[in-house]
Amino acid sequence: MITVEWANGLFRFLDQTRLPLEEVYVETADVARVAEAIRRLEIRGAPAIGVAAAFGVVLASRNARSAEEARSSSLAAIQSLAATRPTAVNLFTALDRMSHALKASEDIRDQEGLSTRLLNEALAIQQEDVEACRRIGELGSALIRPGSSVLTHCNAGALATAGEGTALSVIFAAARKNSIVRVYADETRPLLQGARLTAWELMKHGIDTVLITDSTAGVVLRQQLVQAVIVGADRIAANGDTANKIGTYSLAVLAERHHVPFYVAAPVSTIDFSIASGAEITIEERAPEEVTSIAGTRIAPEGVGVYSPAFDVTPNELIAAIVTERGIMAPPFSQTIPALRPQHRV
Ligand code: MRU
Repeated sequence: MITVEWANGLFRFLDQTRLPLEEVYVETADVARVAEAIRRLEIRGAPAIGVAAAFGVVLASRNARSAEEARSSSLAAIQSLAATRPTAVNLFTALDRMSHALKASEDIRDQEGLSTRLLNEALAIQQEDVEACRRIGELGSALIRPGSSVLTHCNAGALATAGEGTALSVIFAAARKNSIVRVYADETRPLLQGARLTAWELMKHGIDTVLITDSTAGVVLRQQLVQAVIVGADRIAANGDTANKIGTYSLAVLAERHHVPFYVAAPVSTIDFSIASGAEITIEERAPEEVTSIAGTRIAPEGVGVYSPAFDVTPNELIAAIVTERGIMAPPFSQTIPALRPQHRV
């Protein structure tokens, strides 16, 4: 399944706000449309946002008439894309790479040459994510004991990445080895990424999928219906504290209480080596309407107060392992994670 791609000089993406009822692809040559898609969650999931932003910068450079104009419109695009969503670090990692690619091509004097250089960087970011997802699945599936059922939250699948996903890549790889019996998917209020997206992806793979409301997770864990919990991440601090979709922290607490291992799967591009702990992660707050309405229908009284952080931070001590494409990181994360820090910029 293709979530985001470069096709015939245009950026093409699957509009996730319309899934699972309609599969609609949007094509655009406009970086402002890419920024809007990220803000509206038409494109969502940490790695997919990063890849989309990189292609957005390419679009900005292609619409210019000279190399000079391409350089300034690319810089403006980097700024506007960085302001779309604050939590997923992949967005900033990707924009940082685009900004370095721009600086490294100061000798390029024609618009087309500059644009091609930026496109190559965006395609590399995309390809690296495809490969990272594949490796995460391969490595992480070893954590799933044969005959297990697992619980997941939000959507950390193909829709959230350029490849097969992170947490779902582990599940798909384990399913190919016949290790997985059943997957419980939290519906994930308020925007229902679990009900709309994860259930759809799992069922497309023919996996036995059971949808639960978020508040049913406690009972599922207490009844020992699952042998592992596995989720994705939006930003991981150097000590392993992990920001992910709101509700992840509650799941980790429940998993600890019921002695079920809690795993995080994420590419190295989701690790923010510059922050010591999760306390430094900026948590996005979403519009009240996302809570007071479901699919456009109001369900709460007018004027009610709403608190809607989009993410929470799970403290590292609740995490049994973090699966990356460079290996499975075990606690103590403040020793294992810094070893993954990339030494050289590509
Ligand atoms: O608000 P969203 O849908 O972008 O949140 C997505 C998540 O929290 C995912 O779990 C995370 O980005 C990991 S995706 C591989």
